[in-house]
Amino acid sequence: MANQLLDSKRGIIFGALDEHSIAWKVAERCKEEGAIVTLTNAPVALRMGKIQELGEKLDAEIIPADATNIDDLTDLFKKSMNSLGGKIDFVLHSIGMSVNVRKQKPYTDLNYDWMQKSLDISAISFHKVMQTAFHQDALSDGASVLALTYIAAQRVFPDYSEMAEAKALLESFARSFGYHLGAAKNIRVNTISQSPTRTTAGSGIKGFDTFFDYADKMSPLGNADASSCADFCVVMFSDLTRMITMQNIYHDGGFSSMGMNPALLNES
Ligand SMILES: NC(=O)c1ccc[n+]([C@@H]2O[C@H](COP(=O)([O-])OP(=O)(O)OC[C@H]3O[C@@H](n4cnc5c(N)ncnc54)[C@H](O)[C@@H]3O)[C@@H](O)[C@H]2O)c1
Repeated sequence: MANQLLDSKRGIIFGALDEHSIAWKVAERCKEEGAIVTLTNAPVALRMGKIQELGEKLDAEIIPADATNIDDLTDLFKKSMNSLGGKIDFVLHSIGMSVNVRKQKPYTDLNYDWMQKSLDISAISFHKVMQTAFHQDALSDGASVLALTYIAAQRVFPDYSEMAEAKALLESFARSFGYHLGAAKNIRVNTISQSPTRTTAGSGIKGFDTFFDYADKMSPLGNADASSCADFCVVMFSDLTRMITMQNIYHDGGFSSMGMNPALLNES
């Protein structure tokens, strides 16, 4: 179902690790819609993941960048503009990692050095990406910048731990930088609050499967999967959404508006 919504647009996609990654699906859909992209991930992920396979499939250059490192990001924007032949029309930030979650530290006993790292990777990197692009004037007029987030930024999901704070910070950067990029060059910045999705990052959260099923039953449309998230990203990158900015938009099958679903009540 390709409509060339992104005909000739140039994009940078962060965060495709393997075929389960949301960024992987987004990159594929962007290509189907006529975009040309570069792919990027942390050097360690390039060694461990399957991004080379995606690069070959999409004929996309892969440019290593640790999203917390300004030199890497500067190099990434420079190389992407060279490779794609001009300024960048869209960016997907699809990056998340919590050291405390990975090491199974309880929320009431967090290691603060690890927390700094988690916030840097999962949230401050988004500011770094936008600031680097801003300094290089690397984004085109009317470009669209997206990051992926989760509803734990607004409501309590105990096992999501410090990632809740990371996502709250991420969403705040979208609003604050959205002002500056919008005023300067009509550039849009938004976050998409996605359903639980079976990926490497998602499955790292304790009790993920139980929670996935709960959210699926609570949502009238069920959980939104990675492919439908990719469809939504395409729309947000397209010119059809040129007046939407500084928003956190739920892409969750209705979960965020539910109080209780009788289907779940009847189970207990
Ligand atoms: N899976 C879910 O349930 C879910 C739900 C809502 C939002 N999200 C968000 O979607 C985004 C993508 O996650 P995913 O579920 O596709 O999992 P994923 O594990 O496939 O992707 C996470 C990516 O972050 C990358 N990354 C980690 N550290 C990095 C660094 N220093 N520099 C650059 N990249 C780095 C990883 O290499 C990986 O590619 C994340 O922001 C995640 O929080 C996921």
